[in-house]
Amino acid sequence: MPPHDPTKPGDWKDLPKDQVARFDAALAPVLQRYPPDKKEAAMIPALRIGQEIFGHAGTAVQQLCAERLGTSPARAEEVATFYVMFHTHPTGKHLLEICTNVSCCLAGADRMFEQLKRRLGVENGGTTKDGRITLREVECLGSCGTAPAVLVDEKVMEERVSPQKLETILGGLQ
Ligand code: FES
Repeated sequence: MPPHDPTKPGDWKDLPKDQVARFDAALAPVLQRYPPDKKEAAMIPALRIGQEIFGHAGTAVQQLCAERLGTSPARAEEVATFYVMFHTHPTGKHLLEICTNVSCCLAGADRMFEQLKRRLGVENGGTTKDGRITLREVECLGSCGTAPAVLVDEKVMEERVSPQKLETILGGLQ
């Protein structure tokens, strides 16, 4: 079976079975914290788990979450498309998120964002041809006092980023 394309409407049953099993195993302890008739309130953690396991929160993953939580795919889609931390398309091996909100912009983030787009040959949300890096422009990362801020792989916050530091960061993303 060809790999599921998350950009097209798809059925969660097309997702790899071993990954669905891992999803169910990770979701089970989360659901224990919710009353049985309020499972749909676990949509954010369910999507988060799905994104970690499948690499995206596309339509099939949304369907799977909805099915397991006893709600509609439309409800899952609402949540998945509202929060920027959910990716409805697969990202590259690394995710580089640069804040261009006011504090960061005043400290040069807009110019660095342009530098990044040129350097990587992508637009906002794009992934390099080799699949190594996805670039995203994001709103405030909560690091305004140490702007400009860049978040790497949703884990490492780089602060007081300069164009030179940006090159060092890029060099470390292999
Ligand atoms: S404005 Fe960029 S981290 Fe707050």
